[in-house]
Amino acid sequence: MTKLMQDHRKRFGAFEVIEFVDEQEIAKLRAKTDVAAPLTLNWTWEYGSEVEELRALYEKGKVNQWNAESDLDWSAPVSKDEWVLNPEASMLAQICKLMGKDEATQKAAAFDELGHLLSQLLHGEQAALQICGQLTNACEKMDEKWYAASQVTDEARHIEAISKFLSRKVGTIYPINPSLKILLDELLRAETARKKTLGMQTLFEGMAVGIFGLLRSESRNPFLTEMIRRVEQDEARHAAFGILSMRRAVREADATEKAEMEDWAFGILEALNANQQLDMLHLLGPKYGIDPENITKLTLGMPNWAELNSLVYMHTVVPNLRNLGLITERTEGQYRDLGMLYERQRTETASGLSLIA
Ligand SMILES: [Fe+2]
Ligand SMILES: [Fe+2]
Repeated sequence: MTKLMQDHRKRFGAFEVIEFVDEQEIAKLRAKTDVAAPLTLNWTWEYGSEVEELRALYEKGKVNQWNAESDLDWSAPVSKDEWVLNPEASMLAQICKLMGKDEATQKAAAFDELGHLLSQLLHGEQAALQICGQLTNACEKMDEKWYAASQVTDEARHIEAISKFLSRKVGTIYPINPSLKILLDELLRAETARKKTLGMQTLFEGMAVGIFGLLRSESRNPFLTEMIRRVEQDEARHAAFGILSMRRAVREADATEKAEMEDWAFGILEALNANQQLDMLHLLGPKYGIDPENITKLTLGMPNWAELNSLVYMHTVVPNLRNLGLITERTEGQYRDLGMLYERQRTETASGLSLIA
């Protein structure tokens, strides 16, 4: 199987990273805003409910709507002079500290890194909006169409909340990471509703839930905590849709299709993981005198690297894929080798699953 972004692979010891350094190439990727996405739409004449649990999820979504403008107290302060997250949660702040920089610089670096991370989540939210729009067309059943349409509204609200947070509180929206742009385009171009659902709802939303969960647990700022709590609540519903749909899809798939889904899922997550924050380090590192490659080499050499690195994967996406039967003994070792599956983790139920029960 060919790996994604093969031309940008580089070995750091035993680990292969994905790195973009050519500014012109990066600018070109970002400027490519039109993506040809093949789509077969489906009519249905069955207006009654056929998939009870999806209808229930749609109903849950209706009662849990919120208003990003009026349900959040936008007058609450967020300042780069305070620790918005715990200092240990920021890679840049930790490096600045090791380099002997003062606390004000560490705080500023942590604030930049948070702005960068939220910006990437924001671009991901836009991809979710686009994909759910596609799903309303591509899905076969009315329950799925209703659900996907309701998720379009949710994603619009997430874009609203996060973009307003970045403009009003952070002051910058950072551009999309080149590797993320390529992966999101890959999902948007996926030909079937099944693949789109696996890619967006299971993989990306699973990752996003993991990142939001970690952000919320590290947050020291009440406004940020509340905004994330609200977004997370919606995302758990989206992840639940992903699991419900994929359970049906996996049940119906033959062994070849199942293996194909397993490989595709691994390929996307492997590529996400192979970037190892390099895109962020290239963008923000120079401001703080940080060399991206050196830092990445040091990080990869840490004795507890696999344990730390797998946190965000083990939060939701890996347990969900296992639960679906999309991580088998065929790929499990590879996940483990890449530090994306680390056993001695919390054993909480994958998020999304609790909504289905
Ligand atoms: Fe979202
Ligand atoms: Fe979502």
